[in-house]
Amino acid sequence: ARLVVLVSGAGTNLQALLDTIAVQHVVGYGAEVVAVGADREDIAGLRRAREAGIPTYVCRLGDHADRAAWDVALTRATEEYEPDLVVSAGFMKIVGAEFLARFQGRFINTHPALLPSFPGAQAVREALAHGVRITGCTVHFVDDGVDTGPIIAQGAVEVRDEDDETALHERIKDVERRLLVEVVGRLARDGYRIEGRKVRIP
Ligand code: GRF
Repeated sequence: ARLVVLVSGAGTNLQALLDTIAVQHVVGYGAEVVAVGADREDIAGLRRAREAGIPTYVCRLGDHADRAAWDVALTRATEEYEPDLVVSAGFMKIVGAEFLARFQGRFINTHPALLPSFPGAQAVREALAHGVRITGCTVHFVDDGVDTGPIIAQGAVEVRDEDDETALHERIKDVERRLLVEVVGRLARDGYRIEGRKVRIP
């Protein structure tokens, strides 16, 4: 399967996919990253892609008249690579109707909390502030809400008394990277069906 990965920051989830593909390519992980897209320049995620020789593209909101125009540009740039599956791995923008019309049903996101708890961009901080003892990460299909699409897989992470946001997010990311690699491999290799809020992987 052809993957396009969307990033906005460090790109360690992207790196986990690249490392797996590099190691497992011969045994048929079933997916290859054909391009990496971002909403901003000068981030480690883009450097990781370039080091791996993978084409990159950047669609900055500020370069477009409004969000709708940005959404169209992001959709067009992504379509260029004819992805089978689009993976948002730390992509910090909410895509619009154009992107969803084109990719909903084959567009997944990884989120650093156990959805439906703590949706949005401050999930780790909010979980910590709320005092939960268990948090985690979720890989889900993207729909027209914010972190509300059908859940594919989740991983639990304990919260420790001494945790601050960074420490907790790093511990979540350890689980998240493994979860994302497994989910992408299974979706790519085995196919899947989405039935309402249920995701079936044969
Ligand atoms: C991940 O925890 C993702 O769930 C969240 O931002 C983080 C991105 O990390 N949205 P990285 O850029 O993959 O290192």
